[in-house]
Amino acid sequence: MRKPPRRNGGQIRKGRTAPPAPRIVELEINSVGARGDGQGHLDGEQVFVPFTVAGDRVLARIESRRGDGLAASLIEIQEEGPGRVTPPCPHYGRCGGCNLQHLNDEAYAAWKRDLLVTQLARHGLGEIPVQPLVRVPPSSRRRATFAFARSKGGAMIGFNARASHSVIDLERCLLLEPALVALLPALRAMLAAVVPGGTGGDVVVTLTEGGLDVLVEAEARLDLFDREKLAAFAETADLARLTWRRPGGGFAEPIVRRRAAEVSFAGVMVEPPPGAFLQPTRGGELAIVERVLAAVGEATILADLYAGCGSFTVPLSRRGAVHAVEGEQGPLATLDAAARREGLAVTTEVRDLARRPLAVHELVAYRAVVVDPPRAGAASQVAELAKPASPKGGPHTLVMVSCNPATLARDLRTLLEGGWRPEDISPIDQFPWSDHLEAVAVLRR
Ligand SMILES: C[S@@+](CC[C@H](N)C(=O)[O-])C[C@H]1O[C@@H](n2cnc3c(N)ncnc32)[C@H](O)[C@@H]1O
Repeated sequence: MRKPPRRNGGQIRKGRTAPPAPRIVELEINSVGARGDGQGHLDGEQVFVPFTVAGDRVLARIESRRGDGLAASLIEIQEEGPGRVTPPCPHYGRCGGCNLQHLNDEAYAAWKRDLLVTQLARHGLGEIPVQPLVRVPPSSRRRATFAFARSKGGAMIGFNARASHSVIDLERCLLLEPALVALLPALRAMLAAVVPGGTGGDVVVTLTEGGLDVLVEAEARLDLFDREKLAAFAETADLARLTWRRPGGGFAEPIVRRRAAEVSFAGVMVEPPPGAFLQPTRGGELAIVERVLAAVGEATILADLYAGCGSFTVPLSRRGAVHAVEGEQGPLATLDAAARREGLAVTTEVRDLARRPLAVHELVAYRAVVVDPPRAGAASQVAELAKPASPKGGPHTLVMVSCNPATLARDLRTLLEGGWRPEDISPIDQFPWSDHLEAVAVLRR
C-alpha cells in the first residue's frame, strides 16, 4: 500500500501537477464519471479508467494527469462488476462513437439520467424534478457526419477513433438507420475514385423523406470526369441529393438533385440546406416537440429562438403566431419558404443571438419562448430573459432545450436568480451509449 500524500500544501500541489510516473496499478472502480470513464482511487487521487463499470477490479496503467486526477488505460479486468455486459458492436473500444456499450441497460440508463442530476446539483438546482429518461430505439439515427481518409489502397470511411483523428472503417453501426450503413461501400468506392490519395474530409449523410442526402467536404477539385463519376454514384445509390464543398465552409456546389431532400415537420415538408442541423433522430425530435407543445399550452404569441430549419417552429405554428430567430441564413430561408407556401403564421429573423439577444422590450411581445442553443448554451439570451419582466407583460413560459447538461444547468441558474421557476426537466437520450444527453426544461414566471 502506498503512503497517502503528505498533508502539506506546497508539496501536495507540486506532486499533483507533475506528470505521474508510468506504473501499473490494481484498482477497484467505484462509479462511472460524466465522460463515461470508470473512477477509482489511488493514494487519495481519483483515477479515470475507460471501459470500466462500478464494481470492476482492474489492472490499469497510469498514463497522465487529467484535471485533478490521473488518467489510466485498462490492461485487464480481474473481476467484473455487476453492471457489465459484452458490448454488442464489433467496433467497440476503438470507435469514438459509443464508449458505454459495456454497461447493462439498467446501469446505462441510470448513469445517463444521472448526468443531468449531477449537473443540476452542482449548480444548486437539486430541487428541480428530473423526469424518467426518454429512450430512442437503436438503428434510428438519421443523420451522421462520417470522417474519411483516402490512402493509396482506397478509402476508409466511418467515425474517428477514440481520442484520435484516425478513421475507423465502419462495417456495422447499431445506432444508425440501416440506409446510412448500407451506403458506406458505395461511398468508399466513390471517394477512392474521385478524391486524391493522402487527403481526407467529411461526409454528412441525412436520411430524408426523399431518400439519402449526401454532402461531401473534401479538397478535390472536380473535373468533368469526376462529375460524371459523382452523377453515376448518385444514380446507383439512388440518392435524393449530392452536394460538394471544399473544406472551410465555402460554397456548397450542387452536383445532383434527383428528388427533394425534404423532411416533414408536423406534416409540412421543409428542404434543409445540405448539412444543416436536424435533430439526430425522428423519435427524439417528436419527444422534444411533445414536451414543448405541452409546456406552451394555450399561449398563442410565441418565439422560437435558435430555430434552425423549424423543427419546433412549424408544430408551434399550429398553436399560434411564431417568430423564429436563427443565426444562419440558409436554414431559416427554407423554413420561410415552407411557411409562405403553407400559409403558416410564422415570421423569421436572421440574428446572432449571442451578440444581439432579444432584449426585454422585444420579449414583451411574446407569451412563451423556446430556446434551443448549440452546446455552448445561451448565456446572452438567458441574461435578457432573467432581467425583471416589463410592466407591459412578457413571456410567462420558457422552454429550454439543450444538448449539454453543463451549460443548461448554468443557464437555468441564471434564470432561477431572475425569478423563473423551473417546473421540471426531461432527459432525452438522443445519443445512446455516449456521454451526450439532450434535455428539455420547462420554466414559468
Ligand atoms: C441545437 S440547434 C437547434 C435547431 C432547431 N431548434 C432544431 O431543433 O432543429 C442550434 C441552432 O442554433 C443556431 N445558432 C448557433 N449559434 C447561434 C447564434 N449565435 N445566434 C443564433 N443562432 C445560432 C444554429 O445554426 C442551429 O440552427
